Amino acid sequence: MDRVRNPYSPGAGRKPAALVGRDDAIRAWATALQRAERGRTDQPFVLYGLRGVGKTVLLSEFRRNASKRGWIVAQIEAGSGKTLRELLGEALYAPLSDLAQPTAGKRLLKAIRTALSFKASYDTTGTWSFGLDLSGVDGGGADTGILDTDLRKLLRDLSDAAEEQNIGVAICIDEAQDLNVSELTTLCTVAHAAAQDEWPLLFAFAGLPSLPRIMAEAKSYAERFQYFRIQQIDETVVAEALTIPAAQEDAEWEDDAIDLVVVSSGRYPYFLQQYGQESWNVAVGPTITKHDAQLGILQGNNQLDNGFFRARWDRATPAEQQYLRAMAIDGDTGSSSGEIASRLEKKPKSLGPTRAALINKGLAFAPEHGVVAFTVPGMAAFIARQTTA
Ligand SMILES: Nc1ncnc2c1ncn2[C@@H]1O[C@H](COP(=O)(O)OP(=O)(O)OP(=O)(O)O)[C@@H](O)[C@H]1O
Ligand SMILES: [Mg+2]
Repeated sequence: MDRVRNPYSPGAGRKPAALVGRDDAIRAWATALQRAERGRTDQPFVLYGLRGVGKTVLLSEFRRNASKRGWIVAQIEAGSGKTLRELLGEALYAPLSDLAQPTAGKRLLKAIRTALSFKASYDTTGTWSFGLDLSGVDGGGADTGILDTDLRKLLRDLSDAAEEQNIGVAICIDEAQDLNVSELTTLCTVAHAAAQDEWPLLFAFAGLPSLPRIMAEAKSYAERFQYFRIQQIDETVVAEALTIPAAQEDAEWEDDAIDLVVVSSGRYPYFLQQYGQESWNVAVGPTITKHDAQLGILQGNNQLDNGFFRARWDRATPAEQQYLRAMAIDGDTGSSSGEIASRLEKKPKSLGPTRAALINKGLAFAPEHGVVAFTVPGMAAFIARQTTA
């Protein structure tokens, strides 16, 4: 069928034509936004799950829903080598400049002044121009260099300004497992203060399955945060990930074709999108048949092997690949570090750095102490295909 109209979207963070099976989290976020506008601030949201399950697109949906309500929203991705201070500062520039009108209220002017000082704390050469006269305006002081002090001041003043306009501030942080410990601790502390003192400030974190443990270790009260485990799409709605996008383009799926794609994908969103895209491309249409799906899955697997899996495999050094091979024997469920060491005939301690490097690169995570698992569903089978090829 016409590739131009292909509605499927495999790819990191790509918005699906139909965002399926995440109603609970979306509804909870919508409630939290409305509660915050009424002065009742909820604990942070934490979305966690394996690679490709749809954390980023859900986080982006959160951001969009807050933006639609006129909120001040920043969405950032940790782990790009930039500090939290810089990422957050830069992400706030656009929403602040939207609000920086000549009619801006006193509290907004103060928040802008504070944001300017925050900017100066990490960027001594650049400055922001909002085209406003800030002489005689209070604020500033978010440039002590102490992250906890500066971030608290910035977010407090922003929350005050938001409150004045009956909106709130939403901070969405992706790949949050890559924040360093002091950044994460600071965020947890500020989020906790916001919930306690009812600032209209909501946080949403997204990251790998290790994120809840990392947060709890950073601050014990992170146990009170609202955790959403993002997984495969529920059986009852998974077909909609294929049928809704097709219907929007006047196409449809045979039931057998849907069943085949659903089963082959393990209901993982990334794989559904990939198989959906390829099945569409091979189909004559307007109905995607079982035969189209069979071909689509074959081609989809090729694409996944050469892209989704390959890109990650190539990120590992030869020693790390050896470690991953030893893990793959256990499938996707996780391996004991000790067992891997004996498979590789090494002392567990000597493999510590390799294991740490794999975790750092986001290829593996520790579901519990002494255990290591793949972050990518299907990685074990991919590795098995490599060694037998
Ligand atoms: N609820 C959903 N319904 C249909 N498709 C989805 C859904 N969620 C995500 N997808 C699709 O799945 C793919 C992966 O989504 P996304 O990048 O958000 O995953 P992720 O969990 O952030 O992965 P990573 O850990 O690699 O960052 C994208 O192609 C996206 O379009
Ligand atoms: Mg993501």
